[in-house]
Amino acid sequence: MVLYVDLKIRGPDMAYKPIKIAPSILAADFTRLGEEVKQAQDAGADWIHIDVMDGQFVPNITMGPLVVEAVKNVADIPLDVHLMTVQPERFIGRFADCGADSITVHVEACTHLYRVLGQIKSAGCRAGVALNPHTPAASLGEILDMVDIINVMTVNPGFGGQEYIGAMNHKIASLRAMVDKGGTNIDIEVDGGINSETILLAVAAGANVIIAGTCVFGHAGGIAAGIQNLRQAIASPDA
Ligand code: DX5
Ligand code: ZN
Repeated sequence: MVLYVDLKIRGPDMAYKPIKIAPSILAADFTRLGEEVKQAQDAGADWIHIDVMDGQFVPNITMGPLVVEAVKNVADIPLDVHLMTVQPERFIGRFADCGADSITVHVEACTHLYRVLGQIKSAGCRAGVALNPHTPAASLGEILDMVDIINVMTVNPGFGGQEYIGAMNHKIASLRAMVDKGGTNIDIEVDGGINSETILLAVAAGANVIIAGTCVFGHAGGIAAGIQNLRQAIASPDA
């Protein structure tokens, strides 16, 4: 069976919101990072997703502000910085100064989440919140007015190349209902295990930003083919 979903989903104003693709450089070739970011951008990537891991919140260490600064020098599209760190508030100013356009922190890492989201906005960035798989949609119910982006983790954070957790579809749908009911313009991202099949589930559930690492930077046909493959998967026959 071929399942088609519309390339766009309805936003709160009943207008259709286009689906954005945000390649995650976690899966890029770091020896050619600038070149690969440019290729993704030229192929129509909407945002670049940058995964920051500290070896404490997650069992892996990746990159920091200097990499954000380097990517900023070659990218014209927004940089979406995902902090998988403890005490993310300590580095918000630094990531903002290095060129982050949005900064996402984890609910599970913030005792004072409302305050941290305020810090991100004061630093001039869009404020994002990520939910680990076990964290319910309802954890954001009282603070939606502070949120610009919700990142629904569809793998356990820490590594690329993992399998999409299908049980998260229900959470994406709950969040989409909450966001639309509130009449807000919050972006809902899915992060982890995206490929040409799982993207259909995520978009059908209500995600409008698709973060994809392995299936873009690791695509056998190259980065542009990886992005094209995702766009084709969600294109309706008459799109
Ligand atoms: C996982 C990261 C993801 C990761 C996705 O902890 O937050 O952004 O790069 O990689 P893939 O698409 O390979 O699952
Ligand atoms: Zn991420």
